[in-house]
Amino acid sequence: MDKEQYTDCGVTTPLPTKEGQWEGPMIQLRHITKSFGSLQVLKGIDLDIEKGEVVSIVGPSGAGKTTLLQIMGTLDAADGGSIVIDGKDVTKMGQKELAKFRNQHLGFVFQFHQLLPEFTAVENVMIPALIGGQSKKAVKAKAEELLAFLGLSDRVNHKPNELSGGEKQRVAVARALINNPSVILADEPSGSLDTKNKAELHQLFFDLRDKLGQTFVIVTHDEQLAATTDRTIKMQDGLTLPQLTLPLAPPVEGGEYIL
Ligand SMILES: Nc1ncnc2c1ncn2[C@@H]1O[C@H](COP(=O)(O)OP(=O)(O)O)[C@@H](O)[C@H]1O
Ligand SMILES: [Mg+2]
Repeated sequence: MDKEQYTDCGVTTPLPTKEGQWEGPMIQLRHITKSFGSLQVLKGIDLDIEKGEVVSIVGPSGAGKTTLLQIMGTLDAADGGSIVIDGKDVTKMGQKELAKFRNQHLGFVFQFHQLLPEFTAVENVMIPALIGGQSKKAVKAKAEELLAFLGLSDRVNHKPNELSGGEKQRVAVARALINNPSVILADEPSGSLDTKNKAELHQLFFDLRDKLGQTFVIVTHDEQLAATTDRTIKMQDGLTLPQLTLPLAPPVEGGEYIL
């Protein structure tokens, strides 16, 4: 029974094994709906994203991409539907549990870096780990290591207004990575960058996935970036267009994409 499949909202899903090991996708959305007043922005999104996948979400302005990413990242609540991340149903969590889960499992990169101007690069990177209760000394060492990995060793003690756009965005990526999240959610991360910095940031996402095995969900207008991701999900009018998604090889031998 544990290896059998059940079908929910038309999407086939593996059940957890008897040992409780989640064998489903890293992110599983089922019939997510969201309205702002009388405007229904998400009209029932079903989506599976596998562990280690780099997925892009594209679609016209107003399609609901940011809303979907915010809901996937537990920063906003859906009106209906379920969200399972790494086997945990986040729609059933209370605010405190949710904040802890978000801090430990999810990293965010926004279009505009959203670094705190009065703190240095290394201090900005440290913040999510300090919130998570880790010791300052260990966190500082890790933040410096991450900044070095991202080619920013000589920018550690600079404040955001002393950094270029590309550097700020890399600091934001380091901040997203500090707690070793399993999922990185990025909303137009290269939207404010020039061509060279854009290419470097995109390469960084793939390098990170290869080195650390993280799952990336990237909302983008950038067709070149979308074309290089494992799968592109098209959104329009609050729905995904599954018939237009482009699954590559299954993530595990014998695995199967359903969407
Ligand atoms: N907080 C909000 N309050 C009211 N309307 C919103 C809010 N956030 C988004 N919207 C509306 O929802 C629709 C989808 O927005 P959004 O998810 O930002 O789209 P996208 O990122 O695809 O451009 C838009 O019509 C937008 O104006
Ligand atoms: Mg948006």
